[in-house]
Amino acid sequence: MKHPNQVTVMVVGGGGRCHAIVDALSRSPQVGKIYCAPGNAGIAAQAECVPLKDTQVEALRDFARDNAVDLTVVGPEVSLAAGIADVFRAAGLRIFGPSKAAATIESSKDFAKRLMAKYNVPTAAYMTFDDYAQALEYVRRGSFPVVLKYDGLAAGKGVVIPETLEEADEALKEMLLDDRFGKGKVVVEEFLTGPEFSFMCFVDGNQVWPMALSQDHKRAYEGDKGPNTGGMGAYSPLPFITEEDKSFALEHIMKPVAAAMVAEGCPFKGVLYGGLMKTPSGIKVIEFNCRFGDPETEVVLPLLESDIYDIFSAVADGTPMPEIRWKSRASMGFVMASEGYPGSYDKGFPIEGLEDAASDPDVRIYHMGTATSDGRIVTSGGRVLMVIGFGDTLCDAHGKALEAVGKIRCDNLFYRRDIGWRVL
Ligand code: AMP
Ligand code: GLY
Repeated sequence: MKHPNQVTVMVVGGGGRCHAIVDALSRSPQVGKIYCAPGNAGIAAQAECVPLKDTQVEALRDFARDNAVDLTVVGPEVSLAAGIADVFRAAGLRIFGPSKAAATIESSKDFAKRLMAKYNVPTAAYMTFDDYAQALEYVRRGSFPVVLKYDGLAAGKGVVIPETLEEADEALKEMLLDDRFGKGKVVVEEFLTGPEFSFMCFVDGNQVWPMALSQDHKRAYEGDKGPNTGGMGAYSPLPFITEEDKSFALEHIMKPVAAAMVAEGCPFKGVLYGGLMKTPSGIKVIEFNCRFGDPETEVVLPLLESDIYDIFSAVADGTPMPEIRWKSRASMGFVMASEGYPGSYDKGFPIEGLEDAASDPDVRIYHMGTATSDGRIVTSGGRVLMVIGFGDTLCDAHGKALEAVGKIRCDNLFYRRDIGWRVL
């Protein structure tokens, strides 16, 4: 039943993550009109797309004010790093997302590492360098593989894991001498082993509410081979993470970090994403993000039973959080990406079969990078679609997703068939 006084909301961003957020909001009886800026061809079926870029924060503020938007929800880190939450709050507008200062937990690897060291949060040992010769000398004296992280936003592509000194030298040159991403620092980190998982929590200052756990698949090709990507698939829940593991991660990682952000004068409001690893010596942090994960959000939010508008409102307003309930179902999603991704790729290939693939009630398709051309849906990004199956088990969910992927026809898309290999 729809609410008598429905609110107007805006989602900032245009990928699969934002499609999943729009979809979750559209299930709320309290939500009426939904805007999405800039959105994409799939989102356009559920929201009115606004032709503003996610970094045009002042224009987005003006749009929200002029169109009586009651609440804005931010997807991408670039908007947060550009200070969108500060600009909206200064104008008295309600927004779900951390301040620019709090978003530093993602935009600066060095800030995140120093915070963890100061507050005893388990993570890989590290040193930060801005000098090429010193960094190389440190790497020479250490062991391989070693992890090199560029200190800044690099769209998930600022991490290299060299096996030899020669490879490390080349990467350090690129990061510290060639200004590939701009002048910066490099975090040199101990190489950890074990399964990785994503722990997203709704956070309002000291208050932390966990979401269902998920796992991403970062490498481009089957068998976890090939270059790192933004993520090629995901699933939830995770049978290899016990309740004990989850409660350790909540009590010793997520809650202390939320408290540390308060103590450091930059309280976090939004989604704090812990990229964690279950190593032989316990659960450790690989990275933090200041927003919903992509493609994790696409498999996690459909499992949410509670009204997401209430959750976003509680965080945005600092009011008590309602009880958050999750469905006891499984989800598994396959990313269909343009040939060539994460390198260069062509756009504009028509996609057929979407309606047929999405006709199963246990399938959802979120658009990551699509556009409309001559009335047809065409590819317009590196990651193009996220096809998600649901079931009582991960095996059922995998079967549903694979069946749906098989119905989608496009001349320029590839996907990994082995999403969920660890648990199937
Ligand atoms: P990040 O952007 O920090 O998430 O790093 C990208 C990927 O590099 C992670 O998902 C891991 O697979 C890998 N990685 C990062 N740090 C480490 C580490 N200390 N040990 C092993 N692998 C790592
Ligand atoms: N899937 C990894 C991320 O959102 O950063």
